[in-house]
Amino acid sequence: MILVLNWKMNPKTLKEAFSLLDATKKSILRKKITGIVAPPSVFLADIARKKGTLHVAAQSIHTEESGSHTGDVAAAQVSSVGADHVLIGHAERRALGETNEEVGKKVVAALASHLAPIICVGENARDGQGHYLETIRIQLEAALCDVSKTKAKHLVIAYEPVWAIGAAKPMSTHEMHEMTIYIRKFLFSKFGKTGMSMPILYGGSIDGTSARDMMHHGEVDGLLVGRASSDMSKMHELFDALK
Ligand code: PGA
Repeated sequence: MILVLNWKMNPKTLKEAFSLLDATKKSILRKKITGIVAPPSVFLADIARKKGTLHVAAQSIHTEESGSHTGDVAAAQVSSVGADHVLIGHAERRALGETNEEVGKKVVAALASHLAPIICVGENARDGQGHYLETIRIQLEAALCDVSKTKAKHLVIAYEPVWAIGAAKPMSTHEMHEMTIYIRKFLFSKFGKTGMSMPILYGGSIDGTSARDMMHHGEVDGLLVGRASSDMSKMHELFDALK
């Protein structure tokens, strides 16, 4: 089981980040979980140095290797400080204007620097006609268009319906089960056997009350957790629930 802990723009200080990391490490040790922490980029190097058995992800990278891009970080820089994953196409980045095309370029940039991309896809809203499925297909198509079958084994797909991120509760496990089947079919048609083993995660308002159900009934390989991962007591509840 994979647990991606997206701290977003939290916590406030490096000291707090270290406490959160320590608590997360202790919780992970007792469970059979692959934990991937995604701290803000300013903490990335420090967190990577103390990561223990955890993996570390950047929350985003630029499409280019270097150059005049004030405020951005490049894949090689992220990799050089000890991170091994990167979130690409998170809804909060797409909301700032990140396009499907850029997502595809970032996936290529990540793989070239030996970072495993965690590709986030998700529709803004649901409709009765199933148009959201087409949105997901287009997002996946664009993200994966330049990925070879051999590189595909490094990818993680996180389905995160935008309407369930930062919400009161996640989508239903039944709806997620349908999405898992839809995404798995897509991955199989694109990558064959490799597509059958690529992890599919769910993200959006997961906490201690919903994690277990989503794992079992959503047929997912893991979870991408936002708010509940950087709040110490909610983080403990989450791990307790996954026992
Ligand atoms: P949330 O965020 O768990 O706070 O809804 C999920 C995410 O970061 O994608």
